[in-house]
Amino acid sequence: MKVIRTVKEMQGVCLKLKARGKSIGLVPTMGALHEGHLSLVARARKANDIVVVSLFVNPTQFGPNEDYLRYPRPFNKDKELCKKAGVNYLFAPSVNEMYPEGYLTYVQVEKMSALLCGAFRPGHFRGVTTVVAKLFNIVQPDNAYFGRKDYQQLKIIERMASDLNLPVTIVGCPIVREESGLARSSRNQYLSEQERESASRIYRSLQAGKELTEKKNIHSSRRILQKVTSMINEIPGAKIDYVCVCDADTLEPVPAVKHPVVIAVAVWVGKTRLIDNMLAGVK
Ligand code: PAJ
Repeated sequence: MKVIRTVKEMQGVCLKLKARGKSIGLVPTMGALHEGHLSLVARARKANDIVVVSLFVNPTQFGPNEDYLRYPRPFNKDKELCKKAGVNYLFAPSVNEMYPEGYLTYVQVEKMSALLCGAFRPGHFRGVTTVVAKLFNIVQPDNAYFGRKDYQQLKIIERMASDLNLPVTIVGCPIVREESGLARSSRNQYLSEQERESASRIYRSLQAGKELTEKKNIHSSRRILQKVTSMINEIPGAKIDYVCVCDADTLEPVPAVKHPVVIAVAVWVGKTRLIDNMLAGVK
């Protein structure tokens, strides 16, 4: 596995590989890799000749009071995990390499970027779509892998790729959870033992919402929201940013489950903001 630090070298390597007819799979990450990330790498490994993992804690997607500076950066451990997982290239540029002096260009997916997390993290998805568009231009992947853990991010990136006619297939991958049900996340390491226990109850609340509609035939979003919200409100130390029943494609809130929906939540557990979601009403 080769570690590449500059845009020029990464782009050069990928152009050559493509000229030789090699397929490239890209897994964009911010590092602090866990089983969730590694499931995307495994998926990419199966379907492509070459696997590129990008590791870049992207400053443009963090708000001024967010955890950019304290975001975990265990580079050597990440490098070893990538090596073991059969990654060919680890692209780990500096901030200056991605956003050199004079940088002015941003990519924004309207509307969808303002919903759900977008309402609480203004500018977040603009930062995500900008860096992902740049990574697509640098690596020119045939396939790019994203987790449904960040469901809104996945849908926004699909929209961007479709709207801008980007020649890449976006592959959405299942959420990897801990045994307790807690969705794996680099931010879980901020949690104390007790908070971790609290956090695992978010999953059970989502499950209860899903069961209400799929097993008990209750289709009113209000009833589902009531159930999920009341269960989360019982969790010690939890504070809800949002609980929403949304159309699984557009992410617009829906009054009733008539088509596939996603039940999406953002919850603070102590000082850590966690997101999770579950598809429901899918036949
Ligand atoms: P990061 O949070 O590092 O996540 C990288 C990828 O791993 C994302 O596609 C995310 O959905 C996926 N992922 C994280 N936890 C997962 C889990 N438990 N199960 C399945 N997939 C999981 O998301 C980002 O980085 C950034 O916003 C990025 C796209 C790299 C742009 O900076």
